[in-house]
Amino acid sequence: MIETKQTMMNLPGPKAKAIVERDQRVLAPCAGRVYPLVIDHAQGCEVWDVDGNRFLDLAAGIAVLAAGHSHPRLVAAMQAQVTRFTHFAGTDFYSESMVQVAEALVASMPATHEWQIFLTNSGTEAVELCLKLARHATGRQNIIGFFGAFHGRSYGSLSVTASKPLQREGYFPLLPGTTHSFYPTCHRCPINLSYPDCQIACIDLIERVLFQTTTPARDVAAIIVEPIQGEGGYIVPPPGAMQRLRDICDRHGILLILDEVQSGIGRTGKMWAFEHEQIVPDIVASAKGLGGGMPIGAVLARAELTRPWRPGAHGSTYSGNGMACAAALATLDLVQESLMANAAQMGPRLMDGLHALQHRYPQIGFVRGRGLMIGVELIEPETGAPARALANAVMQAAFQRGLLILTCGVSSIRFCPPLIITAAEIDEALHLFEQSLQACL
Ligand SMILES: Cc1ncc(COP(=O)(O)O)c(C=O)c1O
Repeated sequence: MIETKQTMMNLPGPKAKAIVERDQRVLAPCAGRVYPLVIDHAQGCEVWDVDGNRFLDLAAGIAVLAAGHSHPRLVAAMQAQVTRFTHFAGTDFYSESMVQVAEALVASMPATHEWQIFLTNSGTEAVELCLKLARHATGRQNIIGFFGAFHGRSYGSLSVTASKPLQREGYFPLLPGTTHSFYPTCHRCPINLSYPDCQIACIDLIERVLFQTTTPARDVAAIIVEPIQGEGGYIVPPPGAMQRLRDICDRHGILLILDEVQSGIGRTGKMWAFEHEQIVPDIVASAKGLGGGMPIGAVLARAELTRPWRPGAHGSTYSGNGMACAAALATLDLVQESLMANAAQMGPRLMDGLHALQHRYPQIGFVRGRGLMIGVELIEPETGAPARALANAVMQAAFQRGLLILTCGVSSIRFCPPLIITAAEIDEALHLFEQSLQACL
């Protein structure tokens, strides 16, 4: 018998409610919180709110907390660091921890090339730099992204983001020279074909349509793509699609930028999601899991692209921040030691459990993902159409039952737990998810 809270908690409790009201007075409403969870403290995969309610966390601060909340090794690393120094402007001065993070990241990349690193503070900042580097290295201007992509909210990254209109509305004009093509979304093929008979025609549209009409190949600096689309719905491309993109880039001297902000750092059971695809990118953006909860990102690029940069060509006050690097080093150690393997082991358990639910509930249209990056798309059983309202209702019902999950895409629920999650916690999450789904039918 799984020990779990199954009853509705009637949230928010009084303390949470009061804090939410204060928040609404002084914090800008653009953040769009999905439910009123006010954290008090957290440990591992568990979170307690200010009213003492306990939650199982399958959201991990939006796929950030690779080692879970307050992992003892991260706590120790940061406690040791805070007494030595916190910040020392890594683009003006040197620190060993910054070098160690870069060395660990370089070591994680394929030996086919030499790699260099620039450390950033967030995912969007990493993506910005990927775009800058691509233009700088190629002398070309244009960037191709994909419909459904999410790369961040600053101007460059927002320009290649094509996830929800609300994210772009009111902010035009965006970066000139950005354009989009179809992401290989086989379960709802954008050009009504089916894999494998389609021969991945959606990717070929880049050459057959974009290059022949609006976007001359010789002016394209880079194609930027998520190896698994995150915010867009946890969509795993079919075998061969990423290789096809790599081929297009090679044929036309275009750089391939992989946005691994959500999929990287062990989440899919390998250090990088591109390792499932037998391709080597030119540039990679990382963040989220890298700092295990501290704000840090990274650009990993082929050294022949970064070497022409002259000192001062890019910089950032907090690049290589002491606290962020201490957390990143501890996280990278843990990921290599055990977390990546745990994601590879626990992912199938969660996936199998969700597939079992799919057999029982026709509202579960699709279950997809890799490692601990798993999406469940809810549908209207009669028509197969995405069931957006149901997905939102299930997320709310889960919150009321002590399970933290988030939606993505149109009607998908994402499961992106800390990579330390145990089999018992997965079983508890599956149980709570089923209860939540049942409550909404
Ligand atoms: C794939 C991807 N790229 C970039 C970003 C932006 O990262 P940040 O929110 O740290 O700026 C996100 C955030 O969700 C993401 O999922």
